[in-house]
Amino acid sequence: MGERGAISAPGQPTAKDLLDLYNFRLIRPNTKVYGIIGKPVRHSKSPLLFNAAFKAVGLNAVYLHFLVDDVEEFFNTYSCIDFASGCSCTIPHKEVALKSMDEIDPTAKKIGAINNIVRRPDGTSIAFNTDYIGAISAIEDGLREINGVIPAGASPSSGKLFVVLGAGGAGKSLAYGAAQKGARVVVANRTFGNALAMRFTAYIFQLSK
Ligand SMILES: NC(=O)c1ccc[n+]([C@@H]2O[C@H](COP(=O)([O-])OP(=O)(O)OC[C@H]3O[C@@H](n4cnc5c(N)ncnc54)[C@H](OP(=O)(O)O)[C@@H]3O)[C@@H](O)[C@H]2O)c1
Repeated sequence: MGERGAISAPGQPTAKDLLDLYNFRLIRPNTKVYGIIGKPVRHSKSPLLFNAAFKAVGLNAVYLHFLVDDVEEFFNTYSCIDFASGCSCTIPHKEVALKSMDEIDPTAKKIGAINNIVRRPDGTSIAFNTDYIGAISAIEDGLREINGVIPAGASPSSGKLFVVLGAGGAGKSLAYGAAQKGARVVVANRTFGNALAMRFTAYIFQLSK
Protein backbone atom coordinates (compact mmCIF):
# COMPACT_ATOMS: atom_id res chain seq x y z
CA MET A 1 0.00 0.00 0.00
CA GLY A 2 3.04 2.27 0.28
CA GLU A 3 3.37 2.80 -3.47
CA ARG A 4 1.02 5.44 -4.84
CA GLY A 5 -1.88 3.82 -6.76
CA ALA A 6 -0.70 0.26 -5.97
CA ILE A 7 -3.16 -2.45 -4.93
CA SER A 8 -2.42 -5.19 -2.41
CA ALA A 9 -4.27 -7.80 -4.51
CA PRO A 10 -6.24 -7.85 -7.80
CA GLY A 11 -9.67 -6.23 -7.48
CA GLN A 12 -8.90 -4.39 -4.25
CA PRO A 13 -9.25 -0.62 -4.09
CA THR A 14 -6.14 1.49 -3.70
CA ALA A 15 -5.55 3.49 -0.52
CA LYS A 16 -6.11 6.62 -2.60
CA ASP A 17 -9.53 5.35 -3.77
CA LEU A 18 -10.50 4.41 -0.21
CA LEU A 19 -9.72 7.92 0.98
CA ASP A 20 -10.70 10.10 -1.99
CA LEU A 21 -13.43 8.09 -3.72
CA TYR A 22 -15.14 6.16 -0.91
CA ASN A 23 -14.65 8.79 1.86
CA PHE A 24 -13.27 5.96 4.02
CA ARG A 25 -12.55 8.21 7.02
CA LEU A 26 -16.23 9.21 7.17
CA ILE A 27 -17.55 5.61 7.27
CA ARG A 28 -19.11 4.67 10.62
CA PRO A 29 -20.97 1.55 11.90
CA ASN A 30 -24.31 3.09 10.93
CA THR A 31 -23.24 4.32 7.47
CA LYS A 32 -25.80 3.28 4.83
CA VAL A 33 -24.45 1.38 1.84
CA TYR A 34 -25.74 2.20 -1.64
CA GLY A 35 -24.36 1.09 -4.98
CA ILE A 36 -24.65 0.15 -8.60
CA ILE A 37 -25.46 -3.43 -9.58
CA GLY A 38 -24.19 -4.68 -12.92
CA LYS A 39 -21.89 -7.12 -14.71
CA PRO A 40 -19.43 -5.80 -15.71
CA VAL A 41 -19.66 -2.84 -13.36
CA ARG A 42 -16.16 -1.64 -12.59
CA HIS A 43 -16.23 0.86 -15.48
CA SER A 44 -19.16 2.75 -13.93
CA LYS A 45 -18.48 6.33 -12.89
CA SER A 46 -21.54 6.38 -10.57
CA PRO A 47 -19.47 6.00 -7.34
CA LEU A 48 -17.51 9.15 -8.29
CA LEU A 49 -20.74 11.10 -8.64
CA PHE A 50 -22.66 9.75 -5.66
CA ASN A 51 -19.83 9.71 -3.09
CA ALA A 52 -18.97 13.32 -3.93
CA ALA A 53 -22.66 14.24 -3.60
CA PHE A 54 -23.02 12.38 -0.26
CA LYS A 55 -19.97 14.20 1.10
CA ALA A 56 -21.20 17.58 -0.17
CA VAL A 57 -24.59 17.26 1.56
CA GLY A 58 -23.25 15.45 4.66
CA LEU A 59 -25.23 12.23 4.07
CA ASN A 60 -23.95 9.32 6.18
CA ALA A 61 -23.69 6.91 3.22
CA VAL A 62 -21.22 5.28 0.86
CA TYR A 63 -21.78 4.15 -2.74
CA LEU A 64 -20.03 1.05 -4.13
CA HIS A 65 -19.72 -1.07 -7.27
CA PHE A 66 -21.70 -4.33 -6.82
CA LEU A 67 -20.67 -7.05 -9.28
CA VAL A 68 -23.93 -9.05 -9.45
CA ASP A 69 -24.76 -12.23 -11.38
CA ASP A 70 -28.35 -12.63 -10.24
CA VAL A 71 -30.40 -9.64 -9.05
CA GLU A 72 -33.01 -11.67 -7.17
CA GLU A 73 -30.38 -13.68 -5.32
CA PHE A 74 -28.49 -10.47 -4.51
CA PHE A 75 -31.49 -8.85 -2.81
CA ASN A 76 -32.49 -12.10 -1.06
CA THR A 77 -28.96 -12.50 0.27
CA TYR A 78 -28.50 -8.87 1.33
CA SER A 79 -31.91 -8.45 2.93
CA CYS A 80 -30.83 -5.99 5.68
CA ILE A 81 -32.13 -2.59 4.57
CA ASP A 82 -28.98 -0.74 5.68
CA PHE A 83 -27.12 -2.54 2.89
CA ALA A 84 -28.08 -1.86 -0.73
CA SER A 85 -30.96 0.28 0.48
CA GLY A 86 -30.76 2.24 -2.76
CA CYS A 87 -29.25 0.94 -5.98
CA SER A 88 -28.61 1.99 -9.52
CA CYS A 89 -28.99 -0.83 -12.02
CA THR A 90 -26.95 -1.22 -15.20
CA ILE A 91 -25.97 -3.66 -17.94
CA PRO A 92 -27.23 -6.45 -18.22
CA HIS A 93 -29.85 -6.21 -15.43
CA LYS A 94 -32.07 -3.25 -16.38
CA GLU A 95 -34.76 -5.50 -17.83
CA VAL A 96 -34.44 -8.74 -15.85
CA ALA A 97 -34.42 -6.86 -12.51
CA LEU A 98 -38.07 -5.91 -13.09
CA LYS A 99 -39.03 -9.43 -12.03
CA SER A 100 -37.39 -9.08 -8.61
CA MET A 101 -39.15 -5.84 -7.60
CA ASP A 102 -42.19 -5.58 -5.32
CA GLU A 103 -43.46 -2.47 -7.10
CA ILE A 104 -42.57 -0.76 -10.38
CA ASP A 105 -43.27 2.82 -11.28
CA PRO A 106 -45.87 2.90 -14.14
CA THR A 107 -43.46 4.62 -16.59
CA ALA A 108 -40.69 2.08 -15.90
CA LYS A 109 -43.26 -0.69 -16.44
CA LYS A 110 -44.22 0.84 -19.80
CA ILE A 111 -40.55 1.09 -20.84
CA GLY A 112 -39.76 -2.42 -19.62
CA ALA A 113 -36.51 -1.42 -17.89
CA ILE A 114 -35.37 0.09 -14.60
CA ASN A 115 -32.21 1.85 -13.49
CA ASN A 116 -33.14 2.96 -10.00
CA ILE A 117 -34.15 0.78 -7.03
CA VAL A 118 -35.26 1.98 -3.59
CA ARG A 119 -35.73 -0.34 -0.64
CA ARG A 120 -38.31 0.98 1.77
CA PRO A 121 -37.90 0.72 5.58
CA ASP A 122 -40.23 -2.34 5.55
CA GLY A 123 -37.79 -4.10 3.17
CA THR A 124 -40.01 -3.96 0.08
CA SER A 125 -38.57 -2.57 -3.15
CA ILE A 126 -39.82 -0.02 -5.66
CA ALA A 127 -38.08 0.64 -8.97
CA PHE A 128 -38.00 3.58 -11.37
CA ASN A 129 -36.54 4.54 -14.73
CA THR A 130 -34.67 7.86 -14.81
CA ASP A 131 -32.40 7.02 -17.78
CA TYR A 132 -34.80 8.45 -20.32
CA ILE A 133 -35.12 11.79 -18.52
CA GLY A 134 -31.35 12.34 -18.22
CA ALA A 135 -30.49 11.23 -21.74
CA ILE A 136 -33.29 13.07 -23.54
CA SER A 137 -32.76 16.31 -21.62
CA ALA A 138 -29.04 16.22 -22.55
CA ILE A 139 -29.92 15.68 -26.22
CA GLU A 140 -32.50 18.48 -26.07
CA ASP A 141 -29.92 20.87 -24.55
CA GLY A 142 -27.70 20.11 -27.56
CA LEU A 143 -30.57 20.61 -30.00
CA ARG A 144 -31.41 23.99 -28.43
CA GLU A 145 -27.81 25.09 -28.93
CA ILE A 146 -27.90 24.07 -32.58
CA ASN A 147 -31.42 25.24 -33.44
CA GLY A 148 -31.59 28.37 -31.29
CA VAL A 149 -34.80 29.63 -29.71
CA ILE A 150 -37.90 27.46 -30.12
CA PRO A 151 -41.50 28.42 -29.23
CA ALA A 152 -42.34 28.26 -25.50
CA GLY A 153 -43.71 24.85 -24.49
CA ALA A 154 -42.46 23.18 -27.69
CA SER A 155 -39.96 20.33 -27.57
CA PRO A 156 -36.77 20.61 -29.66
CA SER A 157 -37.10 16.84 -30.29
CA SER A 158 -40.57 17.09 -31.80
CA GLY A 159 -40.60 15.82 -35.38
CA LYS A 160 -36.88 14.97 -35.30
CA LEU A 161 -35.64 11.55 -36.38
CA PHE A 162 -34.00 9.65 -33.49
CA VAL A 163 -31.99 6.54 -34.30
CA VAL A 164 -31.46 4.28 -31.29
CA LEU A 165 -28.77 1.60 -31.55
CA GLY A 166 -29.68 -1.25 -29.22
CA ALA A 167 -32.92 -2.48 -27.71
CA GLY A 168 -31.69 -3.39 -24.24
CA GLY A 169 -32.57 -1.48 -21.08
CA ALA A 170 -30.86 1.76 -22.17
CA GLY A 171 -32.18 1.57 -25.74
CA LYS A 172 -35.76 1.02 -24.54
CA SER A 173 -35.52 4.01 -22.16
CA LEU A 174 -34.18 6.39 -24.80
CA ALA A 175 -36.66 5.26 -27.45
CA TYR A 176 -39.51 5.81 -25.00
CA GLY A 177 -38.25 9.26 -23.98
CA ALA A 178 -37.82 10.38 -27.59
CA ALA A 179 -41.27 9.10 -28.59
CA GLN A 180 -42.81 10.95 -25.63
CA LYS A 181 -41.31 14.18 -26.99
CA GLY A 182 -42.87 13.65 -30.39
CA ALA A 183 -39.76 12.39 -32.18
CA ARG A 184 -39.86 9.74 -34.91
CA VAL A 185 -37.92 6.81 -33.49
CA VAL A 186 -35.99 4.20 -35.44
CA VAL A 187 -34.46 1.28 -33.56
CA ALA A 188 -31.66 -0.93 -34.87
CA ASN A 189 -30.82 -4.04 -32.88
CA ARG A 190 -28.87 -7.26 -33.34
CA THR A 191 -31.79 -9.47 -32.26
CA PHE A 192 -34.94 -8.45 -34.09
CA GLY A 193 -37.28 -10.13 -31.57
CA ASN A 194 -35.88 -8.12 -28.64
CA ALA A 195 -36.63 -4.85 -30.45
CA LEU A 196 -40.21 -5.87 -31.20
CA ALA A 197 -41.08 -5.32 -27.54
CA MET A 198 -40.63 -1.57 -28.13
CA ARG A 199 -44.15 -0.81 -29.27
CA PHE A 200 -43.65 2.95 -28.93
CA THR A 201 -41.19 3.09 -31.84
CA ALA A 202 -41.96 3.81 -35.49
CA TYR A 203 -39.45 1.57 -37.28
CA ILE A 204 -37.36 -1.40 -36.20
CA PHE A 205 -34.34 -2.72 -38.09
CA GLN A 206 -32.14 -5.73 -37.51
CA LEU A 207 -28.39 -5.05 -37.31
CA SER A 208 -26.25 -7.60 -39.13
CA LYS A 209 -24.83 -10.20 -36.74
N1 LIG B 1 -24.47 6.88 -19.85
C1 LIG B 1 -25.59 6.42 -19.35
O1 LIG B 1 -26.30 7.13 -18.68
C2 LIG B 1 -25.99 5.01 -19.60
C3 LIG B 1 -27.20 4.57 -19.10
C4 LIG B 1 -27.56 3.28 -19.36
C5 LIG B 1 -26.73 2.45 -20.10
N2 LIG B 1 -25.57 2.90 -20.56
C6 LIG B 1 -24.68 2.03 -21.36
O2 LIG B 1 -25.42 1.56 -22.48
C7 LIG B 1 -24.97 0.24 -22.83
C8 LIG B 1 -26.15 -0.72 -22.89
O3 LIG B 1 -26.66 -0.92 -21.60
P1 LIG B 1 -28.01 -1.73 -21.35
O4 LIG B 1 -28.32 -1.61 -19.90
O5 LIG B 1 -29.04 -1.32 -22.34
O6 LIG B 1 -27.56 -3.22 -21.66
P2 LIG B 1 -28.47 -4.47 -22.06
O7 LIG B 1 -29.86 -4.29 -21.53
O8 LIG B 1 -27.72 -5.68 -21.69
O9 LIG B 1 -28.58 -4.36 -23.67
C9 LIG B 1 -27.44 -4.60 -24.46
C10 LIG B 1 -27.71 -4.17 -25.90
O10 LIG B 1 -26.50 -4.34 -26.65
C11 LIG B 1 -26.73 -5.31 -27.70
N3 LIG B 1 -25.53 -6.14 -27.83
C12 LIG B 1 -24.87 -6.80 -26.84
N4 LIG B 1 -23.81 -7.46 -27.36
C13 LIG B 1 -23.80 -7.20 -28.70
C14 LIG B 1 -22.95 -7.60 -29.77
N5 LIG B 1 -21.90 -8.38 -29.56
N6 LIG B 1 -23.24 -7.14 -31.01
C15 LIG B 1 -24.31 -6.33 -31.24
N7 LIG B 1 -25.14 -5.92 -30.26
C16 LIG B 1 -24.89 -6.36 -29.01
C17 LIG B 1 -27.95 -6.09 -27.28
O11 LIG B 1 -28.57 -6.63 -28.42
P3 LIG B 1 -29.43 -8.01 -28.36
O12 LIG B 1 -30.86 -7.59 -28.06
O13 LIG B 1 -29.26 -8.56 -29.70
O14 LIG B 1 -28.85 -8.87 -27.27
C18 LIG B 1 -28.78 -4.99 -26.60
O15 LIG B 1 -29.42 -4.20 -27.56
C19 LIG B 1 -23.94 -0.15 -21.76
O16 LIG B 1 -22.66 0.11 -22.28
C20 LIG B 1 -24.25 0.78 -20.61
O17 LIG B 1 -23.13 1.00 -19.80
C21 LIG B 1 -25.19 4.19 -20.33
